[in-house]
Amino acid sequence: MAVERTLAIVKPDAVGRGLTGEILNRIHQAKFQIAAIKSLRLTKAEAEGFYAVHRGKAFFEPLTNFMSSGKVVVLVLEAENAIARWRDVMGATDPAQAAAGTIRRTFGSNIQMNCVHGSDTPETAAFEIGYFFSAHELL
Ligand code: RTP
Ligand code: MG
Repeated sequence: MAVERTLAIVKPDAVGRGLTGEILNRIHQAKFQIAAIKSLRLTKAEAEGFYAVHRGKAFFEPLTNFMSSGKVVVLVLEAENAIARWRDVMGATDPAQAAAGTIRRTFGSNIQMNCVHGSDTPETAAFEIGYFFSAHELL
């Protein structure tokens, strides 16, 4: 299995509740390398571009309002099988359905305010990493 990169986001609910350090610790415990990291606030238009695959769905408007409501921490995580492994560490989208011990089950408030994002395929990881990081930030 080749080393893979995935895009992770600590969402505004988690940053606002002071959970960034706890989530970084879980990233470390799960043996991901942090290839890049930054803190920023998305504009509404940037949130819409990032979640463009969900345009037209009922949750698109509240989701992009939420994602532009406060600062996020954006990371590129590197590990073997990083995309699937980070989704396992996050847990299912709805915290109530997520496995015990996952980030979303432990800290998530509801299906929207679920603390973290992770890419779901190599293609979306490439798009999402490029959305936030330039080549020289990824060396
Ligand atoms: P993410 O993209 O944030 O890592 O989450 P995911 O793959 O587990 O879920 P996805 O289907 O891609 O949905 C993206 C985000 O939209 C919000 N959502 N709300 N109200 C709803 O039914 C609903 N469904 C999704 C969540 O914040 C989800 O993480
Ligand atoms: Mg998704």
